[in-house]
Amino acid sequence: MNKKEIKLSIIKLIDEIKIHNDLYYNKDKPSITDAEYDKLVVKLKKIINENPLIELAENPLNEIGGKVSEDFTKFNHPSPMLSLDNAMTSDDLKNFEKRLKNFLGSSVNNIEYCIEPKIDGLSVNLIYENGKLVSAATRGNGKVGEIITSNIRTINDIPEKIDFENVPSLMEIRGEIFMTKDDFVVLNKSSGNQFANPRNAAAGSLRQIDPMVTAKRPLKFISHGFGQIKGKKYETYYDQMLQLKKWKIPISPLMNKSNSIDGLIDIYSDIVSKRAAIPYDIDGLVYKVNNLSLQDRLGFVGKAPRWAIAHKFESETAQTTVKKIDIQIGRTGSVTPVARLIPVNIGGVIVSNATLHNFDEIEKKDIREGDRVIVERAGDVIPHVIEVINDKKNKRGIKYKKPNVCPICNSKIIIDPEEVVIRCSGTYICEAQILGRLKHFVSRSALDIEGLGEKQINLFFSNKFIQNYSDVYNLRNKQPEICQLEGWGELSFNNLVRAIESKKSFPLSKLIYSLGIRFVGEKNALAISEAFKSVDSFKSFLQNLKANTSKVRDTMIEIDGLGPKAINSFFEYLNYKNNREEIIRLLNLCEIYVDKIVVQESKITGKKILFTGSLEKMSRAEAKNRAERLGAKVVSSISASTDILISGEKSGSKLKKAKELGIKVISEEQWIKLLES
Ligand code: IVH
Repeated sequence: MNKKEIKLSIIKLIDEIKIHNDLYYNKDKPSITDAEYDKLVVKLKKIINENPLIELAENPLNEIGGKVSEDFTKFNHPSPMLSLDNAMTSDDLKNFEKRLKNFLGSSVNNIEYCIEPKIDGLSVNLIYENGKLVSAATRGNGKVGEIITSNIRTINDIPEKIDFENVPSLMEIRGEIFMTKDDFVVLNKSSGNQFANPRNAAAGSLRQIDPMVTAKRPLKFISHGFGQIKGKKYETYYDQMLQLKKWKIPISPLMNKSNSIDGLIDIYSDIVSKRAAIPYDIDGLVYKVNNLSLQDRLGFVGKAPRWAIAHKFESETAQTTVKKIDIQIGRTGSVTPVARLIPVNIGGVIVSNATLHNFDEIEKKDIREGDRVIVERAGDVIPHVIEVINDKKNKRGIKYKKPNVCPICNSKIIIDPEEVVIRCSGTYICEAQILGRLKHFVSRSALDIEGLGEKQINLFFSNKFIQNYSDVYNLRNKQPEICQLEGWGELSFNNLVRAIESKKSFPLSKLIYSLGIRFVGEKNALAISEAFKSVDSFKSFLQNLKANTSKVRDTMIEIDGLGPKAINSFFEYLNYKNNREEIIRLLNLCEIYVDKIVVQESKITGKKILFTGSLEKMSRAEAKNRAERLGAKVVSSISASTDILISGEKSGSKLKKAKELGIKVISEEQWIKLLES
């Protein structure tokens, strides 16, 4: 080939790669496999290297890959974007109100709620400074999102400028970006059925590198709240939302108010009957305590506000046949029977598996292989079998018998009379449990490593690249081995390594949660991590477990909401040396920090305070939580180092001792004044 021919072949290759880049990165619709793509890249690299004298106007190799994580700059939300706890039944709602009243104490009798539909779209945060839209970001993990300002500016519903008097100097407006059902059908038709549903289409349209693409998509916006507002604030959420509306920010036309749970349920029924006529997908209603100062008092637990709850819509059902009953072993050893079904469409989703929960359930419902059954699917939860509907004339299969040993590792199955779930006893030898824990570790709710899901964990586990959590961080040294696997190439390997490296910094609570310890979910992990003031103190606690256990246990017992089951399970886990060593390895490999309650400087910051007697205006839990938010350390026993005693009604020995020790004592009234200042 002469120089001209070589150059031409390079240009052709570049054009081809550019087309695939566009399909992969911008359209989320690659037309070739990663391996095929990698072959093109290798070919291009080779010609370029062999012909260094050929000048190129552009070289897509310089951009490849980098794009994925650098497309969108990270954005720290000024105030966290929370998620919601769910309620399915009216009992759940009554419990929600009970929790509110318990937390607020007898000072609050009647709670008013604001009601909005729960739109099935994507949450965004819009920042307005002096009325001007200055930035917009996705929710991300609630603390850090991605900047999508240029894309947001293309959405007609979102004003560029709020041109009114007295607009707050800073305002975070939260809301949902979505697509109507009709717009979705039209878009999907013209784009070759790219998207599974309107939510998907909205997501694909919003995360575009080129805002011109977003501009062409029919995206809509409805606000469902706000973060920080520096300026006039209203007394209620409802009134604040009406003010947004006056500023031409769309709010839900279905927004409503009620001051009883029964009232909420009536509104729910009404919306259920109108659901089909609502032009966009909604998957429930959201109830929010209307009074903003009550919202403030209630604060949040974990990632969800105490003051709001999502009331999800009921499920849909369909009939099908059970082909087989299989057994799944979970990461905690739980043995769960699963029904393999003849695939059936339930409300737009093809369902081929349903959980049978446990063996009592199979027994009670007498579910057998070959049975006709009714299957139910609700929201994101795993579909389940409601009942058998056999036609009496047909002969049925044999009655199902529960296993005595684990089908995976042959260990004995343990039956705890206190529990319905039966468990495989091979905690550290059962491959299903080990795999389950590894999958949990990288899953969305845990470390959320993009491109490292069930499929990849299975592959890397069977190739012995990953056996322990910490092996995830050594995958980067396995390039030659991984690139040899089917479907893997340089590009996909680099993307994976990049995704892993980008998720290396996380709070201690996330580390504890990601370990997959029984009874230690997100909330408990957060509570457990509270017992440690620094990563170093956690490390030395692990290195010297015996000496430290009782002290740390005592601290944990004091932590609001943390029960003995979680504490016992946590210590049981740490009893195994391998587990402790693995945690230390992770602490060394990753950048772990201790998550702190956001503290507002106050008169009591850094002070040790103690509550005694009964409080009238708020519960102990609220008092403790608010004191901590103001930077105080709440202690449970009195000593000379205690700074302040807050003495409620019927204070006894602690008050007496405080007086003896000369500790400052304040009344509940003074405590409330302190909070208000
Ligand atoms: S309130 C205070 N209101 O649902 C906390 N969220 O499951 C959180 N969503 O991330 C938001 N409609 O994306 C709220 N009327 C509504 C909503 C709504 C949809 C989404 C939002 C949030 C998710 C939580």
